[in-house]
Amino acid sequence: MIVPRLIERKRDGGRLEPKEIREIVLAYAEGRVPDYQMAALLMAMYFRGLDGGEMSAMMDAMMESGKKLDLSRLPMARIDKHSTGGVGDKTSLILAPLIASLGVAVPMMSGRGLGHTGGTLDKLESIPGFRTALSLDEAQKQIARIGCAMLSQTDEIVPADRKMYALRDATATVEVIPLIAASIMSKKLSEGLTGLVLDVKRGSGSFLPKLEDELALAKAMIDLGSAHGCPVVALLTAMDRPLGHACGNALEVAEAIDVLKGGGPPDLIEVTFALGAAMLVLSTAAATLDAAHALMRDGINSGKALLKLEEIVAAQGGDPRIMREPTRLPQARHQEIFTAKREGIVRSVEPRAIGYGIIALGGGRRNMEERVDPAVGFVITAKPGIHVLKGQTLATINAHSEADLAVGRSVLESAIVIGDSAEPPLPLVSHRVTARGVEQLA
Ligand code: URA
Repeated sequence: MIVPRLIERKRDGGRLEPKEIREIVLAYAEGRVPDYQMAALLMAMYFRGLDGGEMSAMMDAMMESGKKLDLSRLPMARIDKHSTGGVGDKTSLILAPLIASLGVAVPMMSGRGLGHTGGTLDKLESIPGFRTALSLDEAQKQIARIGCAMLSQTDEIVPADRKMYALRDATATVEVIPLIAASIMSKKLSEGLTGLVLDVKRGSGSFLPKLEDELALAKAMIDLGSAHGCPVVALLTAMDRPLGHACGNALEVAEAIDVLKGGGPPDLIEVTFALGAAMLVLSTAAATLDAAHALMRDGINSGKALLKLEEIVAAQGGDPRIMREPTRLPQARHQEIFTAKREGIVRSVEPRAIGYGIIALGGGRRNMEERVDPAVGFVITAKPGIHVLKGQTLATINAHSEADLAVGRSVLESAIVIGDSAEPPLPLVSHRVTARGVEQLA
């Protein structure tokens, strides 16, 4: 294989053969192809795209780069959910323990922050001591014992995605339907699932702001799942504003704990419950969506879901005392309230500006080597469409220095726009996509 020739062919609009994709992906995972060549190939793919055959070859090679979880001896259904990426999206932190507390196994392999979006692994690692790099054996044993493990890609499990994901994040090569689909589905199909629910984000803060692209991404992932015998249900959910209030790693863990205690913002609860209901129906633990909602309410009201999170945190080396004392999570040195400069209607709370703002405060990466500061971010109570008075609190900035507070202020000034009227925001859950087709829900 002469890598520059493959890059050149893709750059000039040609097609790569499945065996060429396999060879380069496996060589990259093993360190035989350097980052700079893979980055150039990914950029060529960004501009030229991949056809269906190239996409499935990419996914297959990424899966082949590591081993798969073998959970086939477990008596219960094994269901996961994955999001295409959002801001303030902490639904995984709620759903993994909630659904596992209802008797469904949840093997959950997640990602780190990607582009302007946050990542479940970075959020989990804000819990003091929490370890996401589980071995295959540890993950399998933990899932058999407590029904859930929340883990990262490692040198053992989808190492090609671990490396390519970090490289795409640092080289602005994220927003390509086949690369997103191959990345997500390589992780999910390595988990030994009996079903998968996808949260495909819609709107200005998603990687693919056009509805036709979001539907195409959902279909691509459903097709990859079907080809591997894994039923997939995708829900299209709103990402034209952040989900919930908290945006930033430790802040989001605290908000997820609030939901598991029976509180939390209504938009976050609605999206989480819609995804959870799809998971429970897919698992057959619930016969209908209404029955699934009742099961989830009971899981939260009984305290079982919170207890399950405590169990997962303890099993993975984290400090379980954060459930009762969330102030044990990392805290920023400064909290400053941000208020409305005028009376009016909130026209927009722009998720991209907020996501990049968190990165500017240190809560995300600007390059592959950077460490993430878990404490910083925003708690934004303003939502598009609400009426606000001059001086009313819109958000809180969490930062470590006066200079960073000023950065936070200017981020919020551009992200939160107040006017005299507002367009209605996207419905929180708008479409359901399965192998049978697309159903519009709202
Ligand atoms: N989530 C992933 O796991 N991969 C992507 O490429 C985008 C979102």
